Amino acid sequence: GPDIPVTATKAHLDALQGIADQNNGTRATGTPGYQASVDYVKGKLDAAGFQTTVQEFDTPYGKSSNVIADWPGGTSGKVVMFGSHLDSVEAGPGINDNGSGSAGVLETALTYAASGEKPTNTVRFAFWGAEEQGLYGSSHYVDSLSSEDKSAIASYANFDMIGSQNPGYFVYDDNANGNGVRDDLTAHYDEVGIKWEYTDPQGRSDHAAFIDAGIPTGGIYSGGEETKSQEQADKWGGTAGEEFDACYHQACDTADKIDVDALDKNTDTIGALVWSYAGKDLGSIN
Ligand code: PHE
Ligand code: CA
Ligand code: ZN
Ligand code: ZN
Ligand code: ZN
Repeated sequence: GPDIPVTATKAHLDALQGIADQNNGTRATGTPGYQASVDYVKGKLDAAGFQTTVQEFDTPYGKSSNVIADWPGGTSGKVVMFGSHLDSVEAGPGINDNGSGSAGVLETALTYAASGEKPTNTVRFAFWGAEEQGLYGSSHYVDSLSSEDKSAIASYANFDMIGSQNPGYFVYDDNANGNGVRDDLTAHYDEVGIKWEYTDPQGRSDHAAFIDAGIPTGGIYSGGEETKSQEQADKWGGTAGEEFDACYHQACDTADKIDVDALDKNTDTIGALVWSYAGKDLGSIN
């Protein structure tokens, strides 16, 4: 697969940290830090030549928006989707949760656009609003699709927390509509020698609306409040008896805490999936 440059991915995270620093330390729904995050991502995607849409919606916590960016494909009529939530909690800047997934998806998109690849399928990247208050953005997006648009979406892969400070390598195992995406993610980890475990996120991120719509989903996760076991520290390094992300949903979820090696490995995993799904015969995903 492609090598997505981690220095560029990390630079997006530093930019999101700067946005939080200039906006009362947060990028949460209904705050100027969220709008500035949208402007940052949209600006990069527009400059790279994407067909970019900002989809606005209301929540009980204020207005929010999704950024959707298409790289049009060839004749298949099918769409492969990759997404991450762009909002933080109110308490902090949300750099691992979920600047990390957003920076990884963004840099993969920019690298894809610059590659000269000609996809068979439309490659669609999504940056969701208001995940933290209850998955509002992704739910709004799926609800807004016609049945025709819905059936064109062959898969959705989700990236929520991929640079945890004491990282693990987890692959979602709650894929009610088939395990094709899961198995392609684990195959990539196997190929590059990363040991992995399944996790059951129980629909607690933006893939849930896609599960409900009957679309095959998958995702990866580097861990949150759970404690790393000795066995996990033996295979992944880091510190046994500590949380994967001791700053989860806190003010200390800052750019200096990110494990850049995990960010690199997981962003290259996004890259591997994007490059292969762009040209994939979609009979075989689920
Ligand atoms: N969605 C949760 C949050 O943003 C964290 C999470 C990530 C849950 C990945 C499941 C899977 O706080
Ligand atoms: Ca890389
Ligand atoms: Zn969160
Ligand atoms: Zn999250
Ligand atoms: Zn691979």
